[in-house]
Amino acid sequence: MKIAIIGTGYVGLVTAACFADLGNRVYCVDSDRKKITALKKGNIIIYEPGLEEMVKRNMKEGRISFSTSIKDSVRKSDIIFICVGTPSKDNGEADLLALEDVSQEIAKNINSYKLIVEKSTVPVETGEWVKKTINGFKNRRVKFDVASNPEFLREGTAIEDFMHPDRIVIGVESAKAKKILLDLYKPLNTPIVVTNIKSAEIIKHASNSFLATKISFINAISTICEKAGADIEEVAKGIGLDKRISREFLKAGAGFGGSCFPKDLSAFIHIAEKMGYNFNLLHEVKRINEEQKNIIIDKISKLIWNIPGKTIGILGLSFKPDTDDIRNAPALDIVNRLIIQGAGIRAYDPKAMEKSKKVLKKNITFCKDAYDAAKESDCLVILTEWNEFKELDFKRLKKLLKQPVIIDGRNIYDPKMMKKLGFVYTGVGRKV
Ligand code: UDX
Repeated sequence: MKIAIIGTGYVGLVTAACFADLGNRVYCVDSDRKKITALKKGNIIIYEPGLEEMVKRNMKEGRISFSTSIKDSVRKSDIIFICVGTPSKDNGEADLLALEDVSQEIAKNINSYKLIVEKSTVPVETGEWVKKTINGFKNRRVKFDVASNPEFLREGTAIEDFMHPDRIVIGVESAKAKKILLDLYKPLNTPIVVTNIKSAEIIKHASNSFLATKISFINAISTICEKAGADIEEVAKGIGLDKRISREFLKAGAGFGGSCFPKDLSAFIHIAEKMGYNFNLLHEVKRINEEQKNIIIDKISKLIWNIPGKTIGILGLSFKPDTDDIRNAPALDIVNRLIIQGAGIRAYDPKAMEKSKKVLKKNITFCKDAYDAAKESDCLVILTEWNEFKELDFKRLKKLLKQPVIIDGRNIYDPKMMKKLGFVYTGVGRKV
């Protein structure tokens, strides 16, 4: 099939590369000229395992190309995926300006039947607006359909998630749109849930909000575990083996971040409120997540006493492992709060250093590895659970640290082992 992908962020680029790899012809568009120039040379500006190779392979075989022209791409394609950003406004509402712009541009250039698919995460009823906009701005008497096809891929495992999803959701209003999308996704051999557009839009917001709720729930339980002398890892296993609950997303720690959960929670709260429902449950999910970062800071001050003037070694800055993405990363918030309180930071992250350097400028030294971050620090704080932090030379670390103190914000170490190695150690919700 001939597909236009508008917006080459995480979702757009992965979707484009995967559709091309499945044998489709994909035209990618972005208004950011610099990005398109880089992409034309095969330079992927984001770190996502396997993506660069996939893009290069499909470029070589002529299945994927990049341009800044919506016009050309729309005219050449049968299906148009809108993958532009839907950032948060100050009040939490999703900012849909880019989506409106793109809808207008599509309308002006539509030359034959097109299926226009929202892939960006959008509030319910956005499909209606896209439809109205296209009807309002199109010059020709051509038919089109709008559909919703939310994307559930995670950063770091994006290609695997796209190619092997648990399910595909398509929200459609016509048999034609349904057939096109079922054919497109046929090679993935995955259960496909067909709904109306509004249900598909809500499925995406509800999924992300539910997952965020699970994380805040387990973080709240971790606080109770700590107070009671129980162990959150045991508790999470005990509840997670119940298939109705599942073990996924029950990892207590420094809280959730990223470009999706915080933004989508706020947008869902906002749209619910607009419709007359006060989603207090999700307000609480957000509050617990914010509190989780203070809990880490309290742990630090409990172990090293006063924060002003201390040097704190930080391992991990990205919002989760296997990505260089620092958007809404709990690590960054924690580092900022420590700097405001007067600490000096020695930080290391395997992939997110360059991006972090642009936002963290004062009272921070970016280190070459975990040992360098530990050097002369009063404690070491784990904020992202990169695999390379799981197997460190602890004897060497102990010698490098001013005090042998480790605050493990992602529960990657065994408390008993750390104690045996002579560390003053604390995790989140763990019995030492
Ligand atoms: C998420 C959704 O999982 C995905 O379906 C959607 O398309 C986009 O948003 P992503 O933001 O890439 O994906 O990362 P995810 O793996 O879901 O993690 C989000 C945050 O939750 C991270 O900060 C992670 O550290 C945190 N998390 C996750 C926990 O704190 N505990 C867990 O058990 C799981």
